[in-house]
Amino acid sequence: MYKKLFLVFIVGLVSSYACHRYAKNDLSLSSPSERIKIEFSLNDLGTPFYQVIFDNKDIIKKSSMGFDLLDAPALDKGFEIIGSEEMMMNENWEMPWGEQRMVNNHFEELKVMLQEKTAPKRLMNIYFRAYDDGVAFRYEFPEQNGVEELMIVDEKTEFQLTGDHKTWWIPGDWDIYEHLYNTTKVSEIDALEKAKHVNLAQTSIPYNAVNTPVTMRTEDGIHLSFHEANLTDYAGMTLKVDTGSLVLTSGLVGSKNHKYKVKRSLPFVTPWRTIQIADEAKDLISSKLILNLNEANKLGDVSWFKPMKYVGIWWEMHLGIATWDYGMTQNMNTWEDTGKAHGKHGATTENAKRYIDFAAKNGMSGILVEGWNTGWEHWIGFEDREGVFDFVTCYPDYDIEEVVRYGRERGVELIMHHETSAAVTTYDQQMDTAFALMESLGIHSVKTGYVGKIIPKGEFHHGQWMVNHYRRVLETAAKYKVAINAHEPIKATGIRRTLPNAIAREGLRGQEFNAWANDGGNPPEHLTIVPFTRMLAGPIDFTPGVFDIKLSKKTPNPNWGAELKNQINTTLAHQLALYVVLYSPIQMACDLPEHYEGNPALQFIRDVGVDWEQSIVLDGEVGEFVIIARQERETMNWFVGAVSDENPRDITIDFSFLEEGKNYKVIVYKDGEEAHWNDNPLSLVIEEVSVNKNSKETFHLAAGGGLAISLILD
Ligand code: NOJ
Ligand code: CA
Repeated sequence: MYKKLFLVFIVGLVSSYACHRYAKNDLSLSSPSERIKIEFSLNDLGTPFYQVIFDNKDIIKKSSMGFDLLDAPALDKGFEIIGSEEMMMNENWEMPWGEQRMVNNHFEELKVMLQEKTAPKRLMNIYFRAYDDGVAFRYEFPEQNGVEELMIVDEKTEFQLTGDHKTWWIPGDWDIYEHLYNTTKVSEIDALEKAKHVNLAQTSIPYNAVNTPVTMRTEDGIHLSFHEANLTDYAGMTLKVDTGSLVLTSGLVGSKNHKYKVKRSLPFVTPWRTIQIADEAKDLISSKLILNLNEANKLGDVSWFKPMKYVGIWWEMHLGIATWDYGMTQNMNTWEDTGKAHGKHGATTENAKRYIDFAAKNGMSGILVEGWNTGWEHWIGFEDREGVFDFVTCYPDYDIEEVVRYGRERGVELIMHHETSAAVTTYDQQMDTAFALMESLGIHSVKTGYVGKIIPKGEFHHGQWMVNHYRRVLETAAKYKVAINAHEPIKATGIRRTLPNAIAREGLRGQEFNAWANDGGNPPEHLTIVPFTRMLAGPIDFTPGVFDIKLSKKTPNPNWGAELKNQINTTLAHQLALYVVLYSPIQMACDLPEHYEGNPALQFIRDVGVDWEQSIVLDGEVGEFVIIARQERETMNWFVGAVSDENPRDITIDFSFLEEGKNYKVIVYKDGEEAHWNDNPLSLVIEEVSVNKNSKETFHLAAGGGLAISLILD
């Protein structure tokens, strides 16, 4: 499947004025369509500023750039422009798996070369790129005399907003992204208050900041989303919010173990700072800016990873019906079976076979088994977690070879599970052995997890130290033909283009919160915000597909104390729609097999694709609704998904994306007339209809409702 990466490749060096003194103190750059313009300037003090203009109006006002350093003067003034270069690129590249096959990468680039006018006369370059869907810039520290390395205390990139925009944000937590989205004006962002949540295993937020992607809508209806691309050997960026002046400033994630946040030897480049700009909310989702800013595929053929739907021994643990642990002795050196097994262990060979049978019968090709390896008795709540999990030793009631054999015979591959419990050094030491076991068993994907505070103490999930760990895991795994689905991850920044074994990640409030969060779970609007925020970063392992919406089997979980009245706060049709609305090359059908058996709605999950030829965002407003159509690569079948927030609404779908002259068998899965996320979530109507390229149909979405349509070629 690995075809030629560059089908069209045009690079032009438009002009180059390097290495002669500049009289000019400003430079500018326009996107291919010329709707977006970036202006660069130095002020009288020699401080760098940039400004972004959209349709002849400021969209980012003049904003300063620079760095505070440890044991060295700040790099934020005294500069002069010593040269500049322009370049343009227009290429098409192919995704090995993805939400579309071909991606166009078309931009204009300006490189500004700066030097301090007086000693120490340090050099710093800034690259700007103007695309038709937004802008990006990054700093470069070229090799130079007298500067071997930089210790960055903080980056001081400003984003001066043009108004008090409506904003969809999560707190700028250094340890977790699993917060609910808030919708407020910039002036009302109170991240410290909103970050307080008892259900988070780790959280750390030092100041009023938000995490990215953070999305905004201006008074004029323009949509902006701020993020970063190609986060490599650097700290994750939060955006500090000045609620008075409406300025966002980069706030890098730090460490308690040293005074700097990033340490790098020269030469190096920072991640790209990105601003997606769109007339309509839906265009943010179609934008491929983040991916385009990453380097081309370095792994070559990754066809050993196949996009898939999967089931798993997972939801039953979150419901409290089964446990990850077996009930062994807590002597971590021996993990002896002392006969104390409590009989609630989920990961048994027999249970795995039950799920495999269900998967095989329903065309799903993966099974995740959590709690298969020793150590879970010493997980949440324990400080000393190094050396507990080894990722190769099974509990006595789980025979991994037998599970692999049984699955293989039925076309179902095991998805490995590595919960590191954030004992990162242990995982660093163990991962080669763990991946080698997977390779020997023919297992090609693993779900990793980092629940808890990072060990060593003082490091945070999103700091440079962990960014480097997550990258090491991807690179090591690739050697064993293993793909990674990380939970409690570093945010996605488009690395999947370069390392396509980065298949999916969590990094948001997933389905699990609906089982046990003490706030009653994700509100109905949750998944009408996620596609316009978190999903702009990359694929999401949300784990949709709960059919038993009211969680009839839930038992009070001793781990989480209280007897909670939880449920899924959506209709059943909404759960189906998520297979199309949320993009991931792996999609779980997370409910228990007995909740699917006999329910005709299962047919949609059986039919729906996971790897796409193209995706079209038909309509949507952040926090209200979204409608997406996707065409499956192998079959050319189409699937449509739409979800609504807590309000009912009518939506009209224009089917002009269908091919002329083709016949489709069209099945609609829609909310029943009385459907409501709380009062009547299971009310679902399944009907066959006939539509073609010229059809425009109106559908009703219930409060918290959804719509799923399969259009299968006859
Ligand atoms: C948190 C993950 O998000 C969840 O999916 C997993 O089951 C647990 N950690 C255990 O690893
Ligand atoms: Ca999680």
